[in-house]
Amino acid sequence: MNTTARPSTDNLTIAVIFHSNYGHTRRVAEAVVVGARQQLPDSQVKAVDVYDVDWDFLDAADLLVFGSAVYMGSVTAEFKTFMDETSKRWYHRKWEGKWAAAFANSGGLSGDKLAVLQQICLYAMQHGMNWIGLPLMPTGHEETDLNRLSSFLGLMTQSLNGPPEETPGKGDIDTAIWFGNHLAETIIKHKPSDPDPKL
Ligand SMILES: Cc1cc2nc3c(=O)[nH]c(=O)nc-3n(C[C@H](O)[C@H](O)[C@H](O)COP(=O)(O)O)c2cc1C
Repeated sequence: MNTTARPSTDNLTIAVIFHSNYGHTRRVAEAVVVGARQQLPDSQVKAVDVYDVDWDFLDAADLLVFGSAVYMGSVTAEFKTFMDETSKRWYHRKWEGKWAAAFANSGGLSGDKLAVLQQICLYAMQHGMNWIGLPLMPTGHEETDLNRLSSFLGLMTQSLNGPPEETPGKGDIDTAIWFGNHLAETIIKHKPSDPDPKL
């Protein structure tokens, strides 16, 4: 008989907070959600638009995944407004100890997405959160490859001038799903065991 207490995942929740003007970053956020739901039931993983923030859900979540389109080498003004709106939570250390991760979508191949991931990472560190990166070796640099942009701090995706159903391409969307799955798996793995009811 296996007597090792297995952590219950019942009360683990994930919020994927994003800003997207034209739908490409939204599509990436939804792919991260799809991946996380491979590990956790649908009700526990939500995409949250910065225009419509469910603050109670964020405050209760175990993991906050932040994602922004890249504007002028930075998060968008709307995403920064969201960040600044959390300053009281920063002051009261409300998010300390939560898990954090990030993604950035832009038009350029580099597009300075790294600056955005660093900006969000620093923001998460200010909140005292615990960062989860993207430990996935690139399978190549073609359109269908996983982590084709070779990013490890977080997820990078690229969208061209086209509808969000077509761009970012398959490899980037599959990487977003992989990332979501990995994030959920990580918080499940590190969840403290539930107390033994016999004790
Ligand atoms: C004002 C503005 C600034 C932008 N700056 C950058 C940039 O610095 N680097 C880049 O690669 N793309 C840049 N882009 C392209 C956007 O990153 C790209 O269109 C965006 O990721 C699309 O995401 P969305 O459909 O979710 O809005 C910029 C676009 C706009 C409108």
